[in-house]
Amino acid sequence: MIKRIFSGIQATGQVHIGNYLGAIKNWVKLQDEYECIFGVVDYHSITVPFEPKKLTANIRSVILDYLAAGIDPQKSSIMIQSHVPEHTELAWILGTITPFSWLERIPTFKEKKQKHPKYINLGMFAYPVLMAADILIYQASHVPVGQDQLPHIELTRTIARKFNQLFNTKVFIEPEAIVGHGARIMGLDKPQAKMSKSLGPNNYITLTDSPDIIREKIKIAVTDSGRDIKATSEKPAMTNLLTIYHLFSGKPVAELEKAYVGKGYAEFKKDLAEVIIERLRPLQEKRKKIEKDPGYVEKVLKEGETKARAIAQKTMAAVKKTIGVL
Ligand code: AQP
Repeated sequence: MIKRIFSGIQATGQVHIGNYLGAIKNWVKLQDEYECIFGVVDYHSITVPFEPKKLTANIRSVILDYLAAGIDPQKSSIMIQSHVPEHTELAWILGTITPFSWLERIPTFKEKKQKHPKYINLGMFAYPVLMAADILIYQASHVPVGQDQLPHIELTRTIARKFNQLFNTKVFIEPEAIVGHGARIMGLDKPQAKMSKSLGPNNYITLTDSPDIIREKIKIAVTDSGRDIKATSEKPAMTNLLTIYHLFSGKPVAELEKAYVGKGYAEFKKDLAEVIIERLRPLQEKRKKIEKDPGYVEKVLKEGETKARAIAQKTMAAVKKTIGVL
């Protein structure tokens, strides 16, 4: 069996350290073991309110972040979802075999409805079907995702199984999730909920934030009552900051807790900011170099999309034959 990965990030804003620690960092390692396709899933981004000009800029920015963070176009295909129309073509077909009740059970639709009560639309409801198509169109064997995405992968497997059973075929393989070690990074201003692009700049640190902005965001990050620097269930804010410190420095949380006994939040936060700045510095330097060469980005996309499309077209041909539209 081919060991192939598909994963992606929406172009709903700037890529943040949650996306990096929870997804991209893991992808960089997986590139050596799997054939990888990494997408900017721009059609997912338009299921919530958006501005076309900002969307264009965000798409480009995610590509730059992929390259800066170490996605290597020699090893992986980088593509934009809307450039491979087979994603939406397959999503339509899969939509016709997906019962409403399956989609109603997916937690993200409920969350998005609450977040955008005046923007509830069919695309928002059908989002998991497009995500299933993103994965199944490439016959991906594995999908690296954060914990929050597991219901989507389970649905993808269920849709693939139903298609195969309904048409007595083996067109689709059921992909397996690879849940990153990166834990779930919570919002700096709201540590009860995951860090999100759409929750405003004080919620996250982007991969392009300057040292001064990083220092300021960590300085104003919410803390818990008391003075102890400990990762416990009563201290969600400190648990999150310690997790970030651990993931960027490589030092175990217990070692960090010990190192800060008797020291205050201010000193801990000052050190944490410097650790983040130092770890993001090489990415930011690389990004600046890539930005100066738009021809390079075009070339990377052209090559990535050509490879991706060849696989997608092959799957679509098999799907069309199976359902009898030739
Ligand atoms: N806070 C997080 N911690 C760990 N992993 C995270 N991921 C997202 N946020 C965190 C992982 O990043 C990948 C891409 O996510 P996405 O951008 O496609 O969608 P999302 O999960 O909806 O991300 P955001 O930032 O929360 O965007 P908005 O605000 O637009 O909804 C996924 O693998 C995800 O697990």
